[in-house]
Amino acid sequence: MRNQKLGLVFLLFVAFAIPAWAQTAVDGEGHPWWQHAVFYEIYPRSFADSNHDGIGDLPGITSKLDYLSWLGVDAIWIAPMFPSPHVDWGYDISDYYSVDPDYGTLRDMDELLAQSKPRNIRVLLDFVMTYTSDQNKWFQESKSSRANPKRDWYIWRDARDPQQPPNNWTSLFGGSAWKYDSTTSQWFYHYFYPPQPNLNWRNPEVEKNMFDVTRWWYKRGVAGFRLDAVDVMFVDSQFRDNPVVGTERNAFGDPVEREINDKNQPELHGVLQRLRKVADEHNAVLIGETWTSDIEQLKKYYGEHNDEVNMPMDFMFATINKLSPADFRKQIEWVDNSGGWPVYVVSNHDIRRVYDRYGDGKHDDQIAKLMASLYLTLRGTAVMYYGEEIGMENNDPKRPEDVKDSMGKLGWPKEKGRDGERTPMQWNTQANAGFSPTTPWLPVDDRYKNYNVETEKSDPNSILNYYRQLLSMRHTNQALLEGKYIALNEDDPSVLSYARSYKGQSVLVVLNMSGVTRKVNLNLESKGVHAKGAKTLLSSFTTPGRVDPSEISVEPFGAWIGETE
Ligand code: NOJ
Repeated sequence: MRNQKLGLVFLLFVAFAIPAWAQTAVDGEGHPWWQHAVFYEIYPRSFADSNHDGIGDLPGITSKLDYLSWLGVDAIWIAPMFPSPHVDWGYDISDYYSVDPDYGTLRDMDELLAQSKPRNIRVLLDFVMTYTSDQNKWFQESKSSRANPKRDWYIWRDARDPQQPPNNWTSLFGGSAWKYDSTTSQWFYHYFYPPQPNLNWRNPEVEKNMFDVTRWWYKRGVAGFRLDAVDVMFVDSQFRDNPVVGTERNAFGDPVEREINDKNQPELHGVLQRLRKVADEHNAVLIGETWTSDIEQLKKYYGEHNDEVNMPMDFMFATINKLSPADFRKQIEWVDNSGGWPVYVVSNHDIRRVYDRYGDGKHDDQIAKLMASLYLTLRGTAVMYYGEEIGMENNDPKRPEDVKDSMGKLGWPKEKGRDGERTPMQWNTQANAGFSPTTPWLPVDDRYKNYNVETEKSDPNSILNYYRQLLSMRHTNQALLEGKYIALNEDDPSVLSYARSYKGQSVLVVLNMSGVTRKVNLNLESKGVHAKGAKTLLSSFTTPGRVDPSEISVEPFGAWIGETE
Protein backbone atom coordinates (compact mmCIF):
# COMPACT_ATOMS: atom_id res chain seq x y z
CA MET A 1 0.00 0.00 0.00
CA ARG A 2 2.75 2.35 1.04
CA ASN A 3 4.62 1.55 -2.19
CA GLN A 4 1.53 2.23 -4.28
CA LYS A 5 1.15 5.60 -2.64
CA LEU A 6 4.77 6.42 -3.28
CA GLY A 7 4.34 5.38 -6.92
CA LEU A 8 1.36 7.70 -7.29
CA VAL A 9 3.27 10.58 -5.71
CA PHE A 10 6.13 9.92 -8.12
CA LEU A 11 3.81 9.89 -11.14
CA LEU A 12 2.19 13.14 -10.07
CA PHE A 13 5.64 14.62 -9.60
CA VAL A 14 6.69 13.59 -13.10
CA ALA A 15 3.46 14.93 -14.58
CA PHE A 16 3.61 18.32 -12.93
CA ALA A 17 7.21 19.07 -12.07
CA ILE A 18 8.77 18.16 -15.43
CA PRO A 19 7.48 20.14 -18.40
CA ALA A 20 5.54 18.07 -20.96
CA TRP A 21 8.11 18.47 -23.72
CA ALA A 22 10.91 17.29 -21.47
CA GLN A 23 9.07 14.08 -20.60
CA THR A 24 9.30 12.64 -24.09
CA ALA A 25 12.95 11.87 -23.80
CA VAL A 26 12.98 9.11 -26.40
CA ASP A 27 10.59 8.52 -29.30
CA GLY A 28 9.05 5.23 -30.45
CA GLU A 29 12.15 4.34 -32.45
CA GLY A 30 14.48 5.04 -29.56
CA HIS A 31 15.62 8.51 -30.54
CA PRO A 32 16.11 11.20 -27.93
CA TRP A 33 14.46 14.47 -28.96
CA TRP A 34 17.57 16.09 -30.43
CA GLN A 35 18.27 13.35 -32.97
CA HIS A 36 15.35 14.30 -35.16
CA ALA A 37 15.37 17.98 -34.40
CA VAL A 38 16.50 20.69 -36.77
CA PHE A 39 18.74 23.18 -34.97
CA TYR A 40 19.10 26.80 -36.04
CA GLU A 41 21.94 29.04 -34.90
CA ILE A 42 21.05 32.64 -34.10
CA TYR A 43 23.70 35.32 -33.82
CA PRO A 44 21.69 37.55 -31.46
CA ARG A 45 23.35 40.81 -32.45
CA SER A 46 22.18 40.32 -36.01
CA PHE A 47 18.80 38.62 -35.88
CA ALA A 48 16.11 41.17 -35.00
CA ASP A 49 16.29 44.53 -33.28
CA SER A 50 13.24 45.24 -31.09
CA ASN A 51 14.35 48.48 -29.42
CA HIS A 52 15.72 50.15 -32.55
CA ASP A 53 19.30 50.68 -31.47
CA GLY A 54 20.79 48.89 -34.48
CA ILE A 55 21.61 45.79 -32.42
CA GLY A 56 19.60 42.58 -32.36
CA ASP A 57 18.20 41.46 -29.00
CA LEU A 58 16.27 38.76 -27.15
CA PRO A 59 12.81 40.31 -27.56
CA GLY A 60 13.70 40.50 -31.26
CA ILE A 61 14.24 36.73 -31.28
CA THR A 62 10.98 36.20 -29.39
CA SER A 63 9.15 38.23 -32.01
CA LYS A 64 10.42 35.85 -34.70
CA LEU A 65 9.48 32.56 -33.04
CA ASP A 66 6.41 32.24 -35.23
CA TYR A 67 8.63 32.53 -38.30
CA LEU A 68 10.96 29.82 -36.97
CA SER A 69 8.02 27.60 -36.21
CA TRP A 70 6.58 28.20 -39.71
CA LEU A 71 9.97 27.24 -41.15
CA GLY A 72 10.08 23.98 -39.15
CA VAL A 73 12.87 24.70 -36.67
CA ASP A 74 12.85 22.60 -33.47
CA ALA A 75 15.66 24.17 -31.49
CA ILE A 76 17.61 27.39 -31.53
CA TRP A 77 21.17 27.86 -30.37
CA ILE A 78 21.76 31.46 -29.40
CA ALA A 79 25.38 32.64 -29.67
CA PRO A 80 26.51 34.26 -26.39
CA MET A 81 24.06 36.78 -24.96
CA PHE A 82 25.72 37.09 -21.53
CA PRO A 83 27.20 40.35 -20.21
CA SER A 84 30.41 40.98 -22.07
CA PRO A 85 32.82 43.77 -22.98
CA HIS A 86 32.43 42.44 -26.56
CA VAL A 87 36.08 42.18 -27.42
CA ASP A 88 35.01 39.01 -29.22
CA TRP A 89 31.32 39.85 -29.53
CA GLY A 90 30.10 37.93 -26.54
CA TYR A 91 32.65 35.13 -26.53
CA ASP A 92 34.24 37.00 -23.64
CA ILE A 93 31.80 36.53 -20.78
CA SER A 94 31.97 38.72 -17.70
CA ASP A 95 28.96 37.20 -15.91
CA TYR A 96 27.49 33.77 -16.60
CA TYR A 97 24.30 34.46 -14.66
CA SER A 98 22.82 37.35 -16.57
CA VAL A 99 22.03 38.90 -19.95
CA ASP A 100 24.02 41.65 -21.66
CA PRO A 101 22.10 44.95 -21.60
CA ASP A 102 22.57 45.15 -25.40
CA TYR A 103 20.35 42.07 -25.65
CA GLY A 104 17.85 42.73 -22.87
CA THR A 105 17.32 41.37 -19.39
CA LEU A 106 16.90 38.05 -17.62
CA ARG A 107 13.19 38.67 -17.76
CA ASP A 108 13.45 38.89 -21.56
CA MET A 109 15.22 35.55 -21.54
CA ASP A 110 12.50 34.04 -19.37
CA GLU A 111 9.92 35.41 -21.79
CA LEU A 112 11.77 33.92 -24.75
CA LEU A 113 11.86 30.56 -22.97
CA ALA A 114 8.19 30.81 -22.07
CA GLN A 115 7.15 31.75 -25.61
CA SER A 116 9.24 29.08 -27.26
CA LYS A 117 7.68 26.20 -25.31
CA PRO A 118 4.16 26.26 -26.77
CA ARG A 119 5.79 26.40 -30.21
CA ASN A 120 7.87 23.31 -29.40
CA ILE A 121 11.09 25.20 -29.95
CA ARG A 122 13.85 24.43 -27.51
CA VAL A 123 16.43 27.02 -26.58
CA LEU A 124 20.15 26.30 -26.25
CA LEU A 125 22.74 28.75 -25.03
CA ASP A 126 26.39 29.07 -25.94
CA PHE A 127 28.55 27.96 -23.03
CA VAL A 128 31.97 29.53 -23.23
CA MET A 129 33.62 27.26 -20.72
CA THR A 130 37.28 27.36 -21.73
CA TYR A 131 37.97 30.99 -20.86
CA THR A 132 36.24 34.09 -19.50
CA SER A 133 36.51 37.80 -20.10
CA ASP A 134 39.32 39.53 -18.22
CA GLN A 135 36.50 41.69 -16.80
CA ASN A 136 34.91 38.68 -15.12
CA LYS A 137 35.15 39.07 -11.35
CA TRP A 138 36.79 35.64 -11.13
CA PHE A 139 39.71 36.88 -13.21
CA GLN A 140 39.81 40.21 -11.43
CA GLU A 141 40.23 38.34 -8.16
CA SER A 142 42.72 35.91 -9.65
CA LYS A 143 44.98 38.67 -10.92
CA SER A 144 44.80 40.72 -7.73
CA SER A 145 47.51 38.75 -5.89
CA ARG A 146 49.41 35.49 -6.06
CA ALA A 147 47.77 34.52 -2.77
CA ASN A 148 44.20 35.11 -3.91
CA PRO A 149 42.02 31.98 -3.49
CA LYS A 150 41.09 32.22 -7.16
CA ARG A 151 44.66 32.62 -8.34
CA ASP A 152 44.73 29.05 -9.57
CA TRP A 153 41.43 29.37 -11.46
CA TYR A 154 43.46 30.70 -14.39
CA ILE A 155 46.81 29.68 -15.85
CA TRP A 156 49.66 31.79 -14.46
CA ARG A 157 53.36 31.19 -15.13
CA ASP A 158 56.69 32.86 -14.64
CA ALA A 159 58.71 34.19 -17.56
CA ARG A 160 60.96 31.62 -19.23
CA ASP A 161 63.76 34.13 -19.64
CA PRO A 162 63.58 37.68 -18.36
CA GLN A 163 60.66 39.37 -20.14
CA GLN A 164 60.02 36.33 -22.29
CA PRO A 165 56.72 34.42 -22.32
CA PRO A 166 56.75 31.03 -20.57
CA ASN A 167 56.81 29.11 -23.88
CA ASN A 168 56.32 29.47 -27.65
CA TRP A 169 52.54 28.95 -27.87
CA THR A 170 50.76 31.45 -30.09
CA SER A 171 47.23 32.80 -29.87
CA LEU A 172 44.74 31.92 -32.61
CA PHE A 173 44.27 35.63 -33.08
CA GLY A 174 47.97 36.41 -33.41
CA GLY A 175 51.02 36.92 -31.21
CA SER A 176 52.08 35.07 -28.08
CA ALA A 177 49.38 33.22 -26.14
CA TRP A 178 50.81 34.71 -22.93
CA LYS A 179 50.30 38.17 -21.53
CA TYR A 180 52.42 39.72 -18.83
CA ASP A 181 50.59 41.19 -15.86
CA SER A 182 52.60 43.65 -13.84
CA THR A 183 50.40 43.42 -10.71
CA THR A 184 51.92 40.08 -9.79
CA SER A 185 54.80 39.91 -12.30
CA GLN A 186 53.53 36.74 -13.96
CA TRP A 187 52.11 35.80 -17.35
CA PHE A 188 48.59 34.48 -17.94
CA TYR A 189 47.55 32.18 -20.77
CA HIS A 190 44.96 33.08 -23.44
CA TYR A 191 44.43 30.89 -26.49
CA PHE A 192 42.29 33.63 -28.06
CA TYR A 193 42.57 37.41 -27.41
CA PRO A 194 44.49 38.60 -24.35
CA PRO A 195 41.19 39.77 -22.75
CA GLN A 196 40.03 36.12 -22.87
CA PRO A 197 42.17 34.40 -20.21
CA ASN A 198 41.88 30.59 -20.17
CA LEU A 199 40.45 28.93 -17.08
CA ASN A 200 42.50 26.27 -15.33
CA TRP A 201 40.26 23.21 -15.66
CA ARG A 202 42.68 21.15 -13.56
CA ASN A 203 41.31 23.06 -10.58
CA PRO A 204 38.20 21.21 -9.28
CA GLU A 205 36.62 24.48 -8.12
CA VAL A 206 36.54 25.70 -11.71
CA GLU A 207 34.70 22.56 -12.73
CA LYS A 208 32.23 22.84 -9.88
CA ASN A 209 31.46 26.50 -10.55
CA MET A 210 31.09 26.06 -14.27
CA PHE A 211 28.88 22.99 -13.91
CA ASP A 212 26.71 25.00 -11.51
CA VAL A 213 26.27 27.60 -14.26
CA THR A 214 24.71 24.95 -16.49
CA ARG A 215 22.45 23.69 -13.67
CA TRP A 216 21.19 27.22 -13.05
CA TRP A 217 20.25 27.69 -16.70
CA TYR A 218 18.68 24.23 -17.01
CA LYS A 219 16.42 25.12 -14.11
CA ARG A 220 15.39 28.26 -15.98
CA GLY A 221 14.29 26.10 -18.92
CA VAL A 222 17.29 25.94 -21.21
CA ALA A 223 17.45 22.68 -23.20
CA GLY A 224 21.19 22.41 -23.62
CA PHE A 225 24.39 24.14 -24.58
CA ARG A 226 26.72 24.57 -27.47
CA LEU A 227 30.14 24.13 -25.89
CA ASP A 228 32.59 26.66 -27.20
CA ALA A 229 36.20 25.78 -28.09
CA VAL A 230 36.39 22.60 -26.04
CA ASP A 231 39.47 21.41 -27.89
CA VAL A 232 41.58 24.06 -26.18
CA MET A 233 40.21 23.54 -22.67
CA PHE A 234 43.41 21.93 -21.41
CA VAL A 235 47.06 22.53 -22.12
CA ASP A 236 50.06 20.31 -21.52
CA SER A 237 50.72 20.12 -17.77
CA GLN A 238 54.44 20.59 -18.38
CA PHE A 239 53.94 23.55 -20.73
CA ARG A 240 56.22 22.13 -23.41
CA ASP A 241 56.78 24.16 -26.58
CA ASN A 242 54.87 23.29 -29.73
CA PRO A 243 57.04 22.14 -32.64
CA VAL A 244 57.39 24.81 -35.34
CA VAL A 245 56.59 23.70 -38.88
CA GLY A 246 58.88 25.07 -41.62
CA THR A 247 59.71 28.72 -41.93
CA GLU A 248 56.36 30.04 -43.20
CA ARG A 249 54.42 32.65 -41.25
CA ASN A 250 50.63 32.72 -40.79
CA ALA A 251 48.30 35.67 -41.55
CA PHE A 252 49.34 37.30 -38.26
CA GLY A 253 53.05 36.96 -39.01
CA ASP A 254 53.54 34.17 -36.43
CA PRO A 255 55.47 30.92 -37.00
CA VAL A 256 53.25 27.98 -37.95
CA GLU A 257 53.09 25.48 -35.07
CA ARG A 258 51.93 21.91 -34.75
CA GLU A 259 49.51 22.35 -31.88
CA ILE A 260 50.24 19.21 -29.93
CA ASN A 261 50.66 20.79 -26.49
CA ASP A 262 47.95 23.44 -26.41
CA LYS A 263 45.07 21.43 -27.92
CA ASN A 264 43.17 18.16 -27.56
CA GLN A 265 44.72 17.09 -24.26
CA PRO A 266 43.22 13.81 -22.96
CA GLU A 267 41.89 15.30 -19.70
CA LEU A 268 39.20 17.27 -21.51
CA HIS A 269 37.23 14.09 -22.16
CA GLY A 270 36.78 13.42 -18.44
CA VAL A 271 35.32 16.90 -17.96
CA LEU A 272 32.96 16.48 -20.89
CA GLN A 273 31.75 13.12 -19.61
CA ARG A 274 30.95 14.61 -16.22
CA LEU A 275 29.26 17.60 -17.86
CA ARG A 276 27.17 15.17 -19.93
CA LYS A 277 25.94 13.49 -16.74
CA VAL A 278 24.61 16.86 -15.56
CA ALA A 279 22.98 17.43 -18.95
CA ASP A 280 21.37 13.98 -18.90
CA GLU A 281 19.79 14.75 -15.55
CA HIS A 282 17.95 17.55 -17.35
CA ASN A 283 17.17 15.78 -20.61
CA ALA A 284 19.42 18.36 -22.22
CA VAL A 285 21.78 18.15 -25.13
CA LEU A 286 25.41 19.19 -25.57
CA ILE A 287 26.63 20.36 -28.94
CA GLY A 288 30.40 20.59 -29.13
CA GLU A 289 32.53 23.03 -31.03
CA THR A 290 35.09 20.32 -31.48
CA TRP A 291 36.80 21.13 -34.79
CA THR A 292 37.72 17.53 -35.36
CA SER A 293 40.12 16.99 -38.21
CA ASP A 294 39.78 13.23 -38.46
CA ILE A 295 37.36 10.51 -37.55
CA GLU A 296 39.39 9.18 -34.61
CA GLN A 297 39.18 12.57 -32.92
CA LEU A 298 35.47 12.74 -33.64
CA LYS A 299 34.89 9.32 -32.05
CA LYS A 300 36.64 10.44 -28.89
CA TYR A 301 34.23 13.34 -28.50
CA TYR A 302 31.22 11.04 -28.71
CA GLY A 303 32.83 8.99 -25.95
CA GLU A 304 33.49 5.27 -25.97
CA HIS A 305 30.00 4.60 -24.61
CA ASN A 306 28.34 7.58 -26.28
CA ASP A 307 28.60 9.27 -22.92
CA GLU A 308 30.32 12.50 -23.85
CA VAL A 309 29.18 15.22 -26.27
CA ASN A 310 25.82 14.27 -27.82
CA MET A 311 26.52 16.28 -30.96
CA PRO A 312 30.18 16.99 -31.65
CA MET A 313 29.88 19.43 -34.53
CA ASP A 314 31.73 17.98 -37.42
CA PHE A 315 33.11 20.95 -39.26
CA MET A 316 34.83 18.77 -41.80
CA PHE A 317 31.90 19.42 -44.14
CA ALA A 318 32.23 23.14 -43.70
CA THR A 319 35.87 23.07 -44.64
CA ILE A 320 35.20 21.52 -48.05
CA ASN A 321 35.54 24.52 -50.30
CA LYS A 322 34.60 23.11 -53.67
CA LEU A 323 31.59 21.17 -54.93
CA SER A 324 33.31 17.83 -55.00
CA PRO A 325 31.12 14.70 -54.77
CA ALA A 326 34.20 12.63 -53.87
CA ASP A 327 35.05 14.86 -50.90
CA PHE A 328 31.50 14.97 -49.57
CA ARG A 329 31.10 11.21 -50.07
CA LYS A 330 34.22 10.52 -48.06
CA GLN A 331 33.09 12.77 -45.21
CA ILE A 332 29.61 11.28 -45.08
CA GLU A 333 31.02 7.76 -45.09
CA TRP A 334 33.30 8.59 -42.14
CA VAL A 335 30.76 10.42 -40.06
CA ASP A 336 27.98 7.95 -40.81
CA ASN A 337 30.17 5.09 -39.61
CA SER A 338 31.60 6.84 -36.59
CA GLY A 339 29.33 5.03 -34.15
CA GLY A 340 27.88 8.32 -32.89
CA TRP A 341 24.87 10.22 -34.15
CA PRO A 342 26.01 12.29 -37.18
CA VAL A 343 25.85 16.09 -37.09
CA TYR A 344 26.01 18.20 -40.23
CA VAL A 345 26.88 21.87 -40.40
CA VAL A 346 27.58 23.86 -43.55
CA SER A 347 28.28 27.27 -42.10
CA ASN A 348 28.15 29.35 -38.95
CA HIS A 349 29.35 32.65 -37.49
CA ASP A 350 32.97 31.62 -38.03
CA ILE A 351 32.60 30.01 -41.46
CA ARG A 352 31.94 31.72 -44.77
CA ARG A 353 28.42 31.29 -46.05
CA VAL A 354 27.53 28.59 -48.54
CA TYR A 355 26.88 31.11 -51.32
CA ASP A 356 30.44 32.33 -51.09
CA ARG A 357 32.15 29.01 -50.74
CA TYR A 358 30.41 27.29 -53.64
CA GLY A 359 28.57 29.94 -55.67
CA ASP A 360 29.73 30.53 -59.24
CA GLY A 361 27.91 33.88 -59.62
CA LYS A 362 25.50 32.33 -62.12
CA HIS A 363 23.80 29.40 -60.42
CA ASP A 364 24.01 30.61 -56.83
CA ASP A 365 20.35 30.02 -55.97
CA GLN A 366 20.54 26.53 -57.40
CA ILE A 367 23.69 25.88 -55.40
CA ALA A 368 22.03 27.11 -52.18
CA LYS A 369 19.22 24.59 -52.77
CA LEU A 370 21.73 21.89 -53.66
CA MET A 371 23.59 22.31 -50.38
CA ALA A 372 20.34 22.41 -48.41
CA SER A 373 19.30 19.17 -50.11
CA LEU A 374 22.56 17.62 -48.99
CA TYR A 375 22.82 18.45 -45.32
CA LEU A 376 19.11 18.19 -44.66
CA THR A 377 18.61 14.72 -46.14
CA LEU A 378 21.44 12.88 -44.44
CA ARG A 379 21.07 10.59 -41.46
CA GLY A 380 21.78 12.76 -38.45
CA THR A 381 21.02 16.15 -37.01
CA ALA A 382 21.41 19.29 -39.08
CA VAL A 383 22.46 22.61 -37.60
CA MET A 384 21.37 25.53 -39.77
CA TYR A 385 22.77 29.04 -39.61
CA TYR A 386 20.38 32.01 -39.71
CA GLY A 387 19.95 33.41 -43.20
CA GLU A 388 21.09 30.28 -45.06
CA GLU A 389 17.43 29.60 -45.71
CA ILE A 390 17.06 32.82 -47.71
CA GLY A 391 20.38 32.57 -49.53
CA MET A 392 22.26 35.23 -47.59
CA GLU A 393 25.82 35.73 -48.73
CA ASN A 394 28.92 37.09 -47.04
CA ASN A 395 29.07 40.84 -46.98
CA ASP A 396 32.73 41.39 -46.14
CA PRO A 397 34.16 44.73 -45.04
CA LYS A 398 35.88 46.65 -47.79
CA ARG A 399 37.96 48.98 -45.61
CA PRO A 400 39.95 48.17 -42.48
CA GLU A 401 38.24 51.02 -40.57
CA ASP A 402 34.88 49.25 -40.99
CA VAL A 403 35.97 45.98 -39.45
CA LYS A 404 34.22 45.03 -36.19
CA ASP A 405 35.74 41.59 -35.59
CA SER A 406 39.05 41.84 -33.74
CA MET A 407 40.36 38.95 -35.80
CA GLY A 408 39.95 41.08 -38.93
CA LYS A 409 41.40 44.15 -37.24
CA LEU A 410 44.51 42.23 -36.27
CA GLY A 411 44.84 40.22 -39.46
CA TRP A 412 43.90 42.82 -42.12
CA PRO A 413 44.37 42.57 -45.09
CA LYS A 414 45.24 38.86 -45.21
CA GLU A 415 42.58 37.99 -42.65
CA LYS A 416 39.49 40.19 -42.97
CA GLY A 417 37.69 38.57 -40.06
CA ARG A 418 34.18 37.20 -39.76
CA ASP A 419 31.93 40.26 -40.08
CA GLY A 420 30.88 39.12 -43.55
CA GLU A 421 28.99 36.06 -42.30
CA ARG A 422 27.40 37.91 -39.37
CA THR A 423 25.43 40.66 -41.09
CA PRO A 424 21.80 41.47 -40.18
CA MET A 425 19.05 39.00 -41.03
CA GLN A 426 17.07 40.13 -44.06
CA TRP A 427 13.37 40.24 -43.19
CA ASN A 428 11.77 42.40 -45.88
CA THR A 429 12.37 45.11 -48.49
CA GLN A 430 12.23 48.04 -46.05
CA ALA A 431 15.25 50.07 -44.95
CA ASN A 432 17.99 47.88 -43.46
CA ALA A 433 16.05 44.82 -44.62
CA GLY A 434 13.54 45.30 -41.79
CA PHE A 435 16.19 44.34 -39.24
CA SER A 436 16.14 47.78 -37.61
CA PRO A 437 15.06 51.29 -38.58
CA THR A 438 18.42 52.51 -37.25
CA THR A 439 21.77 51.95 -38.98
CA PRO A 440 22.66 48.38 -37.98
CA TRP A 441 25.91 47.48 -36.25
CA LEU A 442 27.03 45.73 -39.46
CA PRO A 443 25.93 46.72 -42.96
CA VAL A 444 23.09 44.83 -44.61
CA ASP A 445 23.94 43.09 -47.86
CA ASP A 446 22.74 45.08 -50.93
CA ARG A 447 20.99 42.03 -52.36
CA TYR A 448 18.41 42.14 -49.59
CA LYS A 449 15.67 43.54 -51.86
CA ASN A 450 15.42 40.13 -53.50
CA TYR A 451 16.72 37.95 -50.73
CA ASN A 452 14.51 38.45 -47.71
CA VAL A 453 11.92 36.47 -45.79
CA GLU A 454 8.85 38.41 -46.90
CA THR A 455 9.62 38.39 -50.62
CA GLU A 456 10.70 34.78 -50.62
CA LYS A 457 7.67 33.64 -48.64
CA SER A 458 5.47 34.67 -51.52
CA ASP A 459 7.62 33.03 -54.21
CA PRO A 460 6.95 29.28 -54.41
CA ASN A 461 10.34 28.73 -56.07
CA SER A 462 12.37 30.67 -53.53
CA ILE A 463 15.23 29.23 -51.52
CA LEU A 464 13.12 29.84 -48.41
CA ASN A 465 10.18 27.78 -49.62
CA TYR A 466 12.58 25.06 -50.72
CA TYR A 467 14.04 24.92 -47.21
CA ARG A 468 10.59 24.86 -45.69
CA GLN A 469 9.53 21.91 -47.80
CA LEU A 470 12.75 20.08 -46.97
CA LEU A 471 12.25 20.62 -43.25
CA SER A 472 8.69 19.44 -43.47
CA MET A 473 9.75 16.27 -45.32
CA ARG A 474 12.47 15.67 -42.78
CA HIS A 475 9.95 15.67 -39.99
CA THR A 476 7.46 13.33 -41.61
CA ASN A 477 9.15 10.98 -44.07
CA GLN A 478 10.06 7.74 -42.27
CA ALA A 479 12.94 6.89 -44.61
CA LEU A 480 14.44 10.34 -44.06
CA LEU A 481 13.99 10.05 -40.32
CA GLU A 482 15.13 6.49 -39.85
CA GLY A 483 16.71 5.27 -43.06
CA LYS A 484 20.26 4.04 -43.31
CA TYR A 485 22.57 5.87 -45.68
CA ILE A 486 23.48 3.96 -48.84
CA ALA A 487 25.98 5.58 -51.20
CA LEU A 488 25.10 5.19 -54.88
CA ASN A 489 27.33 5.49 -57.94
CA GLU A 490 30.42 6.01 -55.82
CA ASP A 491 32.68 6.61 -58.82
CA ASP A 492 30.66 9.45 -60.30
CA PRO A 493 32.89 12.57 -60.26
CA SER A 494 30.03 15.04 -60.87
CA VAL A 495 26.90 13.74 -59.22
CA LEU A 496 26.51 12.82 -55.56
CA SER A 497 23.70 10.28 -55.11
CA TYR A 498 22.51 8.23 -52.19
CA ALA A 499 19.52 6.43 -50.78
CA ARG A 500 18.06 6.53 -47.29
CA SER A 501 16.33 3.19 -46.79
CA TYR A 502 13.96 2.04 -44.10
CA LYS A 503 11.64 -0.97 -44.03
CA GLY A 504 11.64 -1.45 -47.79
CA GLN A 505 11.05 2.22 -48.53
CA SER A 506 13.81 4.48 -49.85
CA VAL A 507 14.29 8.15 -50.39
CA LEU A 508 16.68 8.84 -53.26
CA VAL A 509 18.81 11.96 -53.43
CA VAL A 510 20.61 13.06 -56.59
CA LEU A 511 22.80 16.17 -56.46
CA ASN A 512 24.43 17.41 -59.62
CA MET A 513 27.55 19.28 -58.52
CA SER A 514 28.53 20.30 -62.03
CA GLY A 515 27.55 23.08 -64.43
CA VAL A 516 26.14 20.77 -67.12
CA THR A 517 23.00 18.65 -67.26
CA ARG A 518 23.73 15.04 -66.24
CA LYS A 519 21.84 11.84 -66.95
CA VAL A 520 22.18 9.36 -64.13
CA ASN A 521 21.44 5.66 -63.75
CA LEU A 522 21.18 5.09 -60.00
CA ASN A 523 21.96 1.35 -60.35
CA LEU A 524 19.73 0.70 -57.36
CA GLU A 525 19.67 -3.10 -57.61
CA SER A 526 23.46 -3.26 -57.27
CA LYS A 527 23.01 -1.74 -53.79
CA GLY A 528 20.06 -3.89 -52.81
CA VAL A 529 17.55 -1.06 -53.22
CA HIS A 530 14.45 -2.39 -54.96
CA ALA A 531 12.23 -0.05 -56.94
CA LYS A 532 9.90 -0.29 -59.89
CA GLY A 533 10.03 3.43 -60.32
CA ALA A 534 10.31 6.60 -58.32
CA LYS A 535 8.19 9.60 -57.62
CA THR A 536 9.53 13.09 -57.17
CA LEU A 537 9.23 14.52 -53.66
CA LEU A 538 11.13 17.74 -54.17
CA SER A 539 13.31 19.11 -56.91
CA SER A 540 15.11 22.38 -57.52
CA PHE A 541 14.20 22.31 -61.25
CA THR A 542 11.13 21.30 -63.22
CA THR A 543 10.84 17.52 -63.06
CA PRO A 544 8.09 15.08 -63.95
CA GLY A 545 6.14 13.62 -61.04
CA ARG A 546 7.40 10.11 -61.85
CA VAL A 547 10.90 9.24 -63.01
CA ASP A 548 12.81 6.15 -64.00
CA PRO A 549 15.67 5.69 -61.50
CA SER A 550 17.82 4.22 -64.24
CA GLU A 551 17.60 7.42 -66.22
CA ILE A 552 17.26 10.60 -64.21
CA SER A 553 18.16 13.85 -65.85
CA VAL A 554 19.45 16.54 -63.49
CA GLU A 555 20.00 20.16 -64.50
CA PRO A 556 23.24 22.07 -63.75
CA PHE A 557 23.67 22.22 -59.96
CA GLY A 558 20.20 20.70 -59.68
CA ALA A 559 18.90 18.67 -56.75
CA TRP A 560 16.32 15.94 -57.10
CA ILE A 561 14.79 14.09 -54.17
CA GLY A 562 12.42 11.20 -54.78
CA GLU A 563 10.93 8.11 -53.25
CA THR A 564 10.97 4.53 -54.49
CA GLU A 565 7.73 2.96 -55.69
C1 NOJ B 1 34.68 30.13 -30.82
C2 NOJ B 1 33.66 31.04 -31.42
O1 NOJ B 1 32.85 30.31 -32.29
C3 NOJ B 1 34.36 32.17 -32.12
O2 NOJ B 1 33.45 33.02 -32.73
C4 NOJ B 1 35.22 32.90 -31.13
O3 NOJ B 1 35.92 33.95 -31.75
C5 NOJ B 1 36.21 31.93 -30.50
N1 NOJ B 1 35.50 30.86 -29.88
C6 NOJ B 1 37.07 32.62 -29.48
O4 NOJ B 1 36.32 33.25 -28.54
